[in-house]
Amino acid sequence: MPAWLELEQEKLWLKHPEWGNFKIDFSEKEYQRPHRGKSELIAKACGAPKGFDRVIDLSAGLGEDAVFLSRLGFHVTALERNPLIFALLQQAAREQTLANPGFQFADAKHWLEEHCQELSGQVLYFDPMFAPKKKSALPRKEMRIFREVVGDDLDAHILAECALKTAAARFVVKRPIKADPLLPNPIHQFEGSAIRYDLYTPKGTL
Ligand SMILES: C[S@@+](CC[C@H](N)C(=O)[O-])C[C@H]1O[C@@H](n2cnc3c(N)ncnc32)[C@H](O)[C@@H]1O
Repeated sequence: MPAWLELEQEKLWLKHPEWGNFKIDFSEKEYQRPHRGKSELIAKACGAPKGFDRVIDLSAGLGEDAVFLSRLGFHVTALERNPLIFALLQQAAREQTLANPGFQFADAKHWLEEHCQELSGQVLYFDPMFAPKKKSALPRKEMRIFREVVGDDLDAHILAECALKTAAARFVVKRPIKADPLLPNPIHQFEGSAIRYDLYTPKGTL
């Protein structure tokens, strides 16, 4: 069943006939969880201990990683290509008067091609849609609506190959812990209990 965007009492809601209404709210606990600063796995993967402080999130989604990275001290630009999700992100950022992360409506592949010369010293972060686990508990309603709207990122390999050709300093890909790497030969894998961050060093040939 399709989901749609509706304006109700001056707020945009993503609505689904079965799963109800949903909007992104950066004041909720998913976005405000406590953190351990540079000791967080994602901070290590993005190079915080080495002084890297600018991240381009190529897959903003619900903005959880982008907001978390900004709270860890990174300056984050987060790209989202789905217009419904982008509208919800924009509204959430406006409600909290957040300037970091900055959200942009863009297909990351086109954005990288346009900005490839400006990326030296920066970190590219990519979290494509995971295939759902067959045996997992039903995900929370937000995730069900989100998955329905966004679908699978079937072109993730193409974007990853493009990211590897930019002049960025690091390319970090989030994966389920047991999944194959999106591209072969990451130079390092930062392993958590359920997820992993694969690190690549781009070649600067785009
Ligand atoms: C798994 S979600 C990301 C979740 C996000 N990391 C978070 O913490 O909420 C993947 C998102 O990336 C977006 N996406 C995938 N490929 C993209 C591309 N080439 N350009 C822009 N957005 C993309 C999808 O539309 C989807 O919203």
